[in-house]
Amino acid sequence: MSDNAKLSFKGKEYELPVIEGTENEQAVDIAKLRGQSGMITIDPGYKNTGSTKSAITFLDGEQGILRYRGYNIEDLAENSNFLEVSYLLINGELPTASQYETFSNRITKHTLVHEDIKKILDGFPSVAHPMGVLSSLICSLTAFYPNSLDPNNTDEEIQLSIVRLMAKMPTFAAWAYKNKMGHPVNYPDNNLDYCGNFMKMMFALPSEKYEIDPVISKALDQLLILHADHEQNCSTSTVRIVGSSQASIYASISAGINALWGPLHGGANQSVIEMLESIKADGGDSKKYLEKAKDKNDPFRLMGFGHRVYKNFDPRARIIKKAADDVLSKLGISDPVLEIAKELETAALNDPYFVDRKLYPNVDFYSGIIYRALGIPTDMFTVMFALGRLPGWIAQWKEMRENNEPIGRPRQVYVGSTERPYVAMDKR
Ligand code: CMC
Repeated sequence: MSDNAKLSFKGKEYELPVIEGTENEQAVDIAKLRGQSGMITIDPGYKNTGSTKSAITFLDGEQGILRYRGYNIEDLAENSNFLEVSYLLINGELPTASQYETFSNRITKHTLVHEDIKKILDGFPSVAHPMGVLSSLICSLTAFYPNSLDPNNTDEEIQLSIVRLMAKMPTFAAWAYKNKMGHPVNYPDNNLDYCGNFMKMMFALPSEKYEIDPVISKALDQLLILHADHEQNCSTSTVRIVGSSQASIYASISAGINALWGPLHGGANQSVIEMLESIKADGGDSKKYLEKAKDKNDPFRLMGFGHRVYKNFDPRARIIKKAADDVLSKLGISDPVLEIAKELETAALNDPYFVDRKLYPNVDFYSGIIYRALGIPTDMFTVMFALGRLPGWIAQWKEMRENNEPIGRPRQVYVGSTERPYVAMDKR
């Protein structure tokens, strides 16, 4: 029996190989279809198109499974830490104790950034959205480390760029916040761990001693793990496609940050809180907003609901919902917005519109509530997502390079005018 799929069109038959992944996912390989038949395939939004073979993250949207390198997200969120998960994603295996120490020490040593980067930061007005500042500062690393522009960098040089990215991103993220506040920046403290250092750079004031709250630090670390990778989503595909032109890793990650920014992707965490706040300000009537979300003539969408891939539940949302409850109770905070979120979730999960379309809360629905409780302002939420997603972007960029993937260049079906002669302006 042939393992090929068959496509028949206008009396001709084309054989297309079927490839199978380690979790038995099957894909029809259409790479040679155009050569055989002159036809391409079309799939706006790549809803049913695999762009690569990847060994990093497995996701089963029907069963709500998410695994990094084979390890379940629940297991990692409970037992690991963000730097260990980063090592796993980037290098493929969990580190030994000495590998972990070397990795984390190297990152700690590179947290400081070139002083001239502050001049770039100073050029941004304080109204600048921190995501724009972050992507610009990350891209500026191409200027400070021009060697990274060489597509023939050795593995060692690439490793150094990776360490720099992991080390400097929290510094840039905290500085983007300080710019917004109009406060002087804090420099990294290499005596602290990854999350502790980030929090100190964010929140320490020159006049006060800053104490790290272990509840906040742990919650932050867990949130970063939950965001660390999510296979070929919009920003990750952007990182891979920019990197496929052999652009520098810094330019590729900067592009990923920009792709993440939009409200349909990572920007949803900011939009969720803004939505919950406006429901609260409007009297807290969640049913009214549910009706608006269902009305096709109303542009309103229930932010934090629905996912391109998860059609059962988003396993990250389950963990985050529980974490939101835990963090708020440990910190002794009562947030009325959490109650509105829960009401909205219950109402949506019992409404045929959402049930029929398999629309469930996604990772962004409850994460903003935790960020608020940790004292992180709303327009920094997507920056927090970017901080978490960084090791995933790096791992995906590295895999794309190691597999020598060709430049990403989709085709199109042209639907514009056919050939016509130029008409001089005075004759139009
Ligand atoms: N509120 C109301 N209706 C919705 C929503 C929503 N949040 N999401 C999807 N729908 C409807 C949509 O109108 C469509 O209905 P119909 O079949 O009647 O035309 C149906 O559900 C399918 O939606 P779609 O837009 O075709 O699905 P998609 O896979 O293209 O979009 C999505 C996925 C995440 C962009 C979308 O669900 C959405 O806009 N959600 C709100 C934004 C959001 O929370 N984004 C964060 C995603 S998770 C974090 C990340 O990794 O990016």
